[in-house]
Amino acid sequence: MAGGPGPAMSRRARSGLVATGLVAAAGLLAHVEPPVHAVDDGVASTPAWLDCAACHAEIDGQWRDSLHAAAWTDPIVQAEFARSPGPSCRGCHAPASVAAPDDADAAARGIDCVACHVRDGWILAAWPSPAGVLAHPVRAAPAQATVDACRGCHQFDFADDGIHDPREPLQDTLAEWARSTAAEEDRTCQSCHMAERRDADGVRRTSHALRGLDDPELLAEAVRVDGEAIADATGVTVQLELHGHRIGHAFPTGDLFREAVLTVRTDDGAKDALVLKRWLASTIDPDGDDHHIRQVDDTRVPPPGDGPLRDELRLDDPTATRVQWELRLHRLAPGAARSRGLDAHASGIAVARGEFPVQRRR
Ligand code: HEC
Ligand code: HEC
Ligand code: HEC
Ligand code: HEC
Ligand code: HEC
Repeated sequence: MAGGPGPAMSRRARSGLVATGLVAAAGLLAHVEPPVHAVDDGVASTPAWLDCAACHAEIDGQWRDSLHAAAWTDPIVQAEFARSPGPSCRGCHAPASVAAPDDADAAARGIDCVACHVRDGWILAAWPSPAGVLAHPVRAAPAQATVDACRGCHQFDFADDGIHDPREPLQDTLAEWARSTAAEEDRTCQSCHMAERRDADGVRRTSHALRGLDDPELLAEAVRVDGEAIADATGVTVQLELHGHRIGHAFPTGDLFREAVLTVRTDDGAKDALVLKRWLASTIDPDGDDHHIRQVDDTRVPPPGDGPLRDELRLDDPTATRVQWELRLHRLAPGAARSRGLDAHASGIAVARGEFPVQRRR
């Protein structure tokens, strides 16, 4: 089983994001300044259509329940920002506050409608109404219907901070997607995370509620757990094979804090566990003396199409007749949750469970 240090997301690691974050987010955020219309007396005023909620109430309601809306106020983000306040964080977690770091209201909007839809005074739309929209200017942006709408924030490297290897990704979701069957089948991020439907008038609508870790159905289908439990004289060996199933990237994906734990146990309480995560350690580059924190192992479930994760666990209970397994996903490791006063997150989120009968070989 994989060993090694915990996620080395130290204070300096996060601060080290500064440069990279800005570079990574630059493509996306270069034009995110809220459009302002200069009026004659030189005082800037904002167009009325910037109040998206006034007309798009349903989408606004969906968005308000999403982690994009809470990307700044989220207690896990706030706890980490308090430990390592990098100026880059706002670029992805609260774009509206980049230009106004002291504006708490702007920050509290998280990733708002403007961050994704407004550039240079135009509203970007993947599927503009052929007849146009009277309420505001609309510009066709076909990229909004592709994974590129998500790339700027969900794929980025470590900063060149002298501590981390800047050639390595801090978040790698788009690259994971690129080698998955989802990419082959042209299933975008939106297809799983922004459910699509037609409204009563046949207009295409996408949910902004952002299906994610709060959606038990999405989680339950993410991974298929196959296994065999075989008893011998001293205990039971559980051979596991985990396949990415209805998912478009590794499991878990995203932030380095994420980890999943697969626990197996018998009725008598014998227990063992497999930790699924990216393992970082300080190592010397094989080509030279370059000393950096880099990824030394990855025990996550690979994206579908990129092979299964195979591993073996051992239970010290030779008379067991069945083995129960449970898969839980942790937004942050239990120890990290407790040390930040976020005890509610210590137990993680139930993903799936099942059992294997114990086979006896003579
Ligand atoms: C005064 C009302 C109003 C306001 C304010 C408003 N919209 Fe719209 N918007 C509409 C109407 C009406 C449509 C066309 C029908 C529909 O899609 O609901 C539309 C369509 C859209 C579309 C699809 C493009 C198309 O051609 O159909 C997008 C994307 C959009 N709005 C985003 C926004 C965003 C983002 C904001 C805030 C920055 C905003 N809207 C503010 C009324 C408004
Ligand atoms: C402006 C940056 C930005 C863009 C653009 C962006 N995201 Fe995110 N996304 C974030 C951040 C930051 C979080 C984490 C928020 C938190 O955990 O508090 C996040 C979280 C998520 C989550 C986790 C939700 C959950 O409940 O677990 C999903 C899913 C997601 N984004 C999908 C997408 C998709 C799909 C797109 C493209 C259509 C996209 N994002 C575009 C920054 C962005
Ligand atoms: C075939 C469906 C599918 C596709 C396509 C897909 N995802 Fe996911 N995504 C999932 C499932 C299932 C989960 C929950 C398990 C997990 O967290 O890994 C998830 C979780 C996430 C999370 C939350 C991770 C966390 O721990 O907070 C983010 C962020 C995310 N996806 C972003 C993306 C992005 C960006 C893309 C496009 C490159 C994408 N997803 C494509 C199914 C999909
Ligand atoms: C993380 C980026 C992101 C944020 C934040 C966001 N949107 Fe969108 N929105 C998209 C994407 C991507 C699409 C197109 C999805 C597709 O067609 O695959 C879309 C589609 C739309 C559409 C046209 C389709 C439909 O369902 O009517 C409207 C209108 C819209 N958004 C309004 C809003 C409003 C209003 C807000 C704020 C409450 C908002 N969006 C916030 C990314 C975002
Ligand atoms: C290039 C974009 C980007 C930058 C810069 C960035 N983040 Fe994030 N961050 C994300 C995305 C995307 C997610 C969501 C991934 C997921 O759901 O697993 C995230 C997730 C997180 C999480 C986990 C939140 C949760 O809900 O569990 C924390 C904590 C966090 N970021 C802190 C920070 C801090 C602090 C900074 C600045 C030092 C920062 N981030 C800079 C994109 C970014």
